[in-house]
Amino acid sequence: MEKFYITTPIYYVNDLPHIGHTLTTVLADIFARYKKQAGFDAYFTTGTDEHGLKIKQAAEKAGKHPQEFADEVALEFKKAWQLLDIQYDYFIRTTNPKHKGLAQHFLGVLRDLGHIYKDIYEGLYCVGCEKFLTESDLNENNRCPLHKPEQTIHQKEENYFFKLSEFTQKVKQLIVEDKFKIEPLERRSEILARIEQGVEDISISREKLDWGVPIPWDKSQTSYVWVEALLNYWTIPQIVDKPNLWPPDLQTLGKEILWFHGVIWPAMLLAVGEKLPQGLFVHSFFMIDGKKMSKSLGNVINPQQLVERYGVDGTRYLLAKSLPYSDDSYVGLAKFDEWYTADLANGLGNLVARVATLAEKAGIENKTNKRKQFKFYPETKSYFDIYRFDLALAFIWEKKIRELDRLIDKRQPWNLAGEKLQEALSDIVTEIPQIAYNLKPFLPATAQEIINQYSGKIKKGESLFPRLK
Ligand code: MSP
Repeated sequence: MEKFYITTPIYYVNDLPHIGHTLTTVLADIFARYKKQAGFDAYFTTGTDEHGLKIKQAAEKAGKHPQEFADEVALEFKKAWQLLDIQYDYFIRTTNPKHKGLAQHFLGVLRDLGHIYKDIYEGLYCVGCEKFLTESDLNENNRCPLHKPEQTIHQKEENYFFKLSEFTQKVKQLIVEDKFKIEPLERRSEILARIEQGVEDISISREKLDWGVPIPWDKSQTSYVWVEALLNYWTIPQIVDKPNLWPPDLQTLGKEILWFHGVIWPAMLLAVGEKLPQGLFVHSFFMIDGKKMSKSLGNVINPQQLVERYGVDGTRYLLAKSLPYSDDSYVGLAKFDEWYTADLANGLGNLVARVATLAEKAGIENKTNKRKQFKFYPETKSYFDIYRFDLALAFIWEKKIRELDRLIDKRQPWNLAGEKLQEALSDIVTEIPQIAYNLKPFLPATAQEIINQYSGKIKKGESLFPRLK
């Protein structure tokens, strides 16, 4: 079986999981399930990013040791992913001693190869982003536009630097040749334009921060949290003893962290002679009231809220349908309610229920529903290939579900009986499990329920998507 290594960013533990994190994790889970269903040996990883100033400060505020604090929040992420039926293969925590040791080894190699030097860093730093701010990152008040103004601080330290500038032309060439694919196109162009503006070397250590991985040749400094966090994708295959996983086949992320994944990360790998990931899928933001949803802005919706209202599969569906591809998506409960009722309760749920009732009456038995006979529609495949989960769903609803609704209205099977009724339903009862198979990566439990309900003697079932109260 061909391997397929897929990753999500590892989330900061200063924040409880909200539907922004959930979006990326659900998308990656959908993609991993799709690949598994299509016969790949997919390996899907996620996890938590637990070092750095931001986490240290959050722990202090909570009156806890950072490790204790990270233990608690990492557990919340695991619980959220369990709630949403996320089937990850490995959950990395950056405080894992194996990860720390391997990250130190990587840094040592970088240094031995001559890609590290010591220098003074002076400039503005955003604790929220955990990043040095360049001119183009600043708003009109010389602050980070994504976080609270007090999170932009001035820093002056003697640090170790990575010779990033020596590798950026090579990175650029690989992006241009699509050997290191960045999708969608808007993000690819954005990163190329930014490389054109010139790239400086980056500081990869901290002098005054103790909550981090010590620099192996100078224990008075700790690794810059981003460098160590990016390495999770590289340490995992070694931690789980699956070296053949390398390199990642698809890395999913939000657009605010594209610079790290699209430039710094491949440059680090080129510097030590490692293969690069095949590609990145970079989505845009969920926005609420015109602002990016984030803890710092206090406008979050959490996944539990959605699951309580729409169920697990309902939530997965709504997130996939709102996929912010190249533009941001405006999300909110009013829109989710509308989609849930139209697509799930009245659309899929109603179709499955009314056909099952008629099929039971006609005593129909579906003999052909052997697993092997199910296939992804060519359109489902092509939309998955370009990460258009929203279009894959639109296709299934508009071309498949609606088509069956139309056929039923035309044939009026409720006026038929006996053989005539069986005939009127025969193609419909075989198509419904086929639709379910195509929806399985999105709605794993519901799709399986439909497939079971439509195997053998078809029976009426429980309502798949209860009406909203
Ligand atoms: N710890 C870093 C990532 C290190 S990866 C080596 C980090 N963590 S984070 O907790 O801030 O998560 C950022 C990611 O969460 C985004 O890239 C995106 O995948 C997801 N999202 C967070 N808020 C989001 C929205 N409002 N909308 C869409 N996705 C969002 O950055």
